[in-house]
Amino acid sequence: MTARSPSVELCKGNNGLGKIVLRETRGSSVEVYLYGAHVTSWKNDHGEELLFVSNKAIFKPPKAIRGGIPICFPQFAGTGNLEQHGFARNRLWSIDESPPHLAVNSSHRTFVDLILKPTEEDFKIWPHSYEFRLRVVLTIGGDLILISRIRNTSTDGKPFTFTFAYHTYFTVSDISEVRVEGLETQDYLDNLKERERFTEQGDALTFESEVDKIYLNAPPKIAIIDHEKKRTYVLWKEGLPDAVVWNPWDKKAKAIADFGDDEYKHMLCVEAAAIENPITLKPGEEWKGLQEISAVPSSYYSGPLDPHKVLHG
Ligand code: BG6
Repeated sequence: MTARSPSVELCKGNNGLGKIVLRETRGSSVEVYLYGAHVTSWKNDHGEELLFVSNKAIFKPPKAIRGGIPICFPQFAGTGNLEQHGFARNRLWSIDESPPHLAVNSSHRTFVDLILKPTEEDFKIWPHSYEFRLRVVLTIGGDLILISRIRNTSTDGKPFTFTFAYHTYFTVSDISEVRVEGLETQDYLDNLKERERFTEQGDALTFESEVDKIYLNAPPKIAIIDHEKKRTYVLWKEGLPDAVVWNPWDKKAKAIADFGDDEYKHMLCVEAAAIENPITLKPGEEWKGLQEISAVPSSYYSGPLDPHKVLHG
């Protein structure tokens, strides 16, 4: 048997849009569209898809791709001139040929660097100079790491402020069999109740109706346990204090044009985010936000989220 080497390939995706495919030696892979720097596929070494993408997703600008990992920048919620979730997810990014140094771990050998800079049109709706660099890493073990570095490149002394999220759509076998651990007892803003603040009660989160919550100052590690599939996703975040949990459920699903009526049963968004306290960058300053996700058989997962508690698969 010949050992395969990891690879990074630029090819054409749906509707001829540019797509980068990362492949690791054990068989895992990741696909990223230049449109939105949008990760649309993350497969483990058995070739199983771990991200949800709607069958109705539209791979055509200006619509953001429904599913995968849209990047919400420069705002999470929709206010002012800016659209809901900002514009980074529907701009054409470029491959960053000469990214500034980023310390790399030896298991992070398969990656692509992308960059977004404002156009004159963008400047009209968000008048700020920035460079947004995204590194997408597929580790040897098949984990997917997203590292965003946003720099204020203004020469006129103007700071800017933004909010941010990695809007990650995980694929699950049956939403009613899913449990999220790590967010219990946390404070959250409920988007379904005009962002009123509540405290999560009791045990791990389970799902039986629409949910749209922003957990504030959530712990860095969150587990999404898919009982039916016996798979646990572990999300690790740095520089991103908040975490959004979203599932539209049946009624809202029907109202979303690029989302199938029953698809809510097979997805859950858990999103590392910075929303409650927007980030301000002065000229020359840079912000970094990282999300790492891994998928493990539930029985293998023993990393306690809380030192007093161990998860059972
Ligand atoms: C979630 C928000 O992150 O994204 C929801 O909390 C929103 O309020 C959902 O409905 C989907 O947003 P969009 O813009 O991709 O349809």
